Amino acid sequence: MTFDTVDEDRPLRGVVVGAGFIGGQWAPELLANPATRLVGWVDVEPERARASAAKLGLAGLPTGPSLTSLLDGEEPDFVVNCTVPDAHYEVTVAALERGVSVLSEKPMAVSLDEARGMVAAADRARRLFMVNQNRRYMPALVAYRRTVADLGALGMLASEFLMPYRGADFLSTLEHPLLQDMAIHLFDAARAVSGADPVAVYCESFRPPWTWYPGACSAVAIFEMTGGLRYTFTGSWSAPGLPSSWTGSWRASGSRGTALWDGEAAITVGAARGESLKPGEPEPDPHPGRRRFTGLAEGLAEFVAGLRTGSPPQGECHDNLRSLAMVTAALESARTGSRVPVPAA
Ligand SMILES: NC(=O)c1ccc[n+]([C@@H]2O[C@H](COP(=O)([O-])OP(=O)(O)OC[C@H]3O[C@@H](n4cnc5c(N)ncnc54)[C@H](O)[C@@H]3O)[C@@H](O)[C@H]2O)c1
Repeated sequence: MTFDTVDEDRPLRGVVVGAGFIGGQWAPELLANPATRLVGWVDVEPERARASAAKLGLAGLPTGPSLTSLLDGEEPDFVVNCTVPDAHYEVTVAALERGVSVLSEKPMAVSLDEARGMVAAADRARRLFMVNQNRRYMPALVAYRRTVADLGALGMLASEFLMPYRGADFLSTLEHPLLQDMAIHLFDAARAVSGADPVAVYCESFRPPWTWYPGACSAVAIFEMTGGLRYTFTGSWSAPGLPSSWTGSWRASGSRGTALWDGEAAITVGAARGESLKPGEPEPDPHPGRRRFTGLAEGLAEFVAGLRTGSPPQGECHDNLRSLAMVTAALESARTGSRVPVPAA
């Protein structure tokens, strides 16, 4: 896990790839961070990149459909990969092979084989490759993580993600839209909150009768985690009422008691007999009133710190493989109907 640092005393040059919803959230972050400069924007539909740049008052920004031309022309230090999951491999490997570091949207890739190929490309190029799991930077998740760390040896962890979502078109093209797109957020958060890694999984992925998705938009999974912890996941993109928060609702139990989190602010604890517990308090929002997408500014700051110091950020690709492996093993279990070991990487 060694990558080269950028030592020149100048802002880091970044190109955004993908000018859809999340690309439009990342570009302003590169403009707002004094340690980075936005030097180009690529989209296979070049008019999208041009229009998105113009909307930010950047009519002169180099844009176009060809990633390699922009990389060769602008010589950036990094790209932010904001393309659809199917394109993540091609974009990330093209950048790494030109010696350009990559900050990517989740999920790293659509299969573990592709993801391993990307991590090997990062190793060969000695470049930083990070997947931004933006939930990790939520002050309330950090507080819940601290609360759970105080519960003693963990035995049970559960999360429920239930959302009536009709968003991005690409979700309707997926066989298992919940597992293939969203579940990584919950699975990665389960690793972050528990400090445990996956061992094996049994999962069912299905279509409830009322769903508007062609694919299996709902799933239940039981993970065995290291230390004997069981993590159970229930999720749906087609919740008919009473949605959860976007970070799900959580329950963790250890030898000293139980902690609940609604995925937004409220953390409550109940101590086991003879124990006493306190809920963690979220740190105050460092950007009160800011209307930007959660966890992108913080992820960019960690990525920049990594490139400057050589210290691996959260979501560094070798670690993020463990979260992606939870997704791919859950998919394999759903397809085969059997309990599946989660490979170490
Ligand atoms: N972290 C979060 O909470 C969060 C939220 C939304 C989306 N995402 C992730 O961000 C990614 C993009 O999602 P979105 O909602 O912005 O999708 P989108 O469909 O709105 O945008 C994707 C863009 O990528 C472009 N594109 C596709 N292939 C390309 C390629 N090879 N080269 C250059 N451009 C290409 C498309 O033309 C499109 O403009 C997905 O992986 C998604 O899971 C993460």
